[in-house]
Amino acid sequence: MAGTEPDRSRDDKRSMLLTALYVAQAQHGHLTHQAVQRVAERLDMDVTEVFQTATFYSMFRTEPVGRYLIQVCEGLSCHLAGGAEKLLEHLQKRLHIKVGETTRDGLFTLESVQCLAACGSSPAMRVNDTLYENLTMDQVDDILDELRGA
Ligand code: FES
Repeated sequence: MAGTEPDRSRDDKRSMLLTALYVAQAQHGHLTHQAVQRVAERLDMDVTEVFQTATFYSMFRTEPVGRYLIQVCEGLSCHLAGGAEKLLEHLQKRLHIKVGETTRDGLFTLESVQCLAACGSSPAMRVNDTLYENLTMDQVDDILDELRGA
């Protein structure tokens, strides 16, 4: 039936959209305006819809971030386990930035997120694609030093 084709095509495009945005972000570190436009053109979608999708999901970033994106879980399980606040405080102190900021050298961006799928091993943080669990503050310092190339 001709009436169902446009919907299926639209569903196909929407199902490809997240992957396309993920690939574009991996290439540029964040989703630039040009990248969003290019994805919209390739999928023949409205650029506003693509941009709204990019800003809806927390895994996508439309602003530049540091070379290392540090995400600390402040979800309920981690909060109850009691490690998240201490970890965030420690990182803010060590990096001299607040949550949502990037260090002046462009090396680190600090974010808080609601879950890293490491609920039983708080405190946890992810640095780019690497997950660290059951962290001590000494381990955090070692990780930062290693990333700085010390
Ligand atoms: S609530 Fe912290 S990892 Fe899930």
